[in-house]
Parts: sequence; structure tokens; C-alpha cells
Amino acid sequence: MKQKGDSLRTRRQAERWKRKFERQRELSRQLNAAASDILRSRNFISTKGCIQHGDMTVNQHCLNVAKLSIAISDKLHIRCQKEEMIRGALLHDYFLYDWHVGDARKPHNLHGFYHPGIALKNASREYDLTARERDIIEKHMWPLTLTKLPRCREAWIVTTADKWCSLLETVHYVHGHGRAEVEEPDYFSEAHRTLRPRRERRRIRAAKKR
Ligand SMILES: [Fe+2]
Ligand SMILES: [Fe+2]
Repeated sequence: MKQKGDSLRTRRQAERWKRKFERQRELSRQLNAAASDILRSRNFISTKGCIQHGDMTVNQHCLNVAKLSIAISDKLHIRCQKEEMIRGALLHDYFLYDWHVGDARKPHNLHGFYHPGIALKNASREYDLTARERDIIEKHMWPLTLTKLPRCREAWIVTTADKWCSLLETVHYVHGHGRAEVEEPDYFSEAHRTLRPRRERRRIRAAKKR
């Protein structure tokens, strides 16, 4: 027989799911508003073909880190430059190779130490990074990279979010969809060099103010 308590529990569960769904939708909206150029770029999409931890791709890991960074700053009421934080979080692991697949020339044994530098180099090649975005990408592996101490609160938030996401992914507490079939990254694309996303965003922002 159906109990009154059962339907109450079901209703509460449905409300919880609804809140969770709306929160995820809001986070995705914020990511799109701050970094649609990154999210749509061929190289960022190519990270769906590389595994980060467990069965989580680099692409999904970066999205998770960006969303958790927003959640941390909202929950703790930390005033920060959200757009730069989101862009830095999305590009923090922009090394564009699968670190599990090494060869004699690049064994990736010390990937943890050197990938922030590679990510920064790749990201600077395609985007006009701000000082904060550079700090986030370059320092996100602290304390492993002992001398690279984060210098802004956005970098501290992202490095914390990265540690937490990495832990949950490594112990398989959260699951990904596994590697997808995607195009190889295009390191020297003319389109990427001439796109100038930051200038484009400035133009859109100026048009909105008018
Ligand atoms: Fe990393
Ligand atoms: Fe990461």
C-alpha cells in the first residue's frame, strides 16, 4: 500500500533533482557567457579525445573544474573576476596530448611538473591571456610545482577545485564517458592565430553598452 510518507519523499527527491538540474544549467550558462570561443574551438573540443583521470576526459575535467570554481566562489562569497577565472580554469590543462600515451622521445614521466608550462604556451598561442589567466594556468599544480605559488584569489580557487575534481575522478567517485573520436588538435592553425578572441569579446561588450 502506498504510504503518505512515500509520496512526500518522492516529491522532495524530485525537487532536489530539479534544483540540481537548474544549478547545472546556470553554471553552463555562465561558462558559455564567459568562454564560448574556447568551448567552440577545435583544439578545446579535441581534448575529448584525451583521458585525464579514470574514464574522465581532459575536456570534461576542465569543465568540472570551471563549474566547481564558480560554485566555490559563490558559496564562500569570494569576490573575484569570474570571467577570467572561468577562462583560466577551462585552459588550465590545455596541454593537448594524452599523457598516458608516451613514447621514447616524450615519455611524459614528469607530466605533473611540466604540463602547466605547456598548457600556458598553447593557450598563449591562441588567446590573449590576462595576467590572472596566466597565473591560473601556470600555478594550478602548486604545491607539486613548489616555486609556482598562486598570486591571485582566482588561481587559489582553481587550484583547489582542480585538486578536488582530480581526487574524485581518480578514485572513480565521479565517472566520465571515456575517450571520444575527435579531430587531432591543430597547433598552428591560421584561424586560431587571427581569431583574436579577447578583442572580439571586447567588441561585443562595447556593443552591448551602446
Ligand atoms: Fe593540471
Ligand atoms: Fe586539472
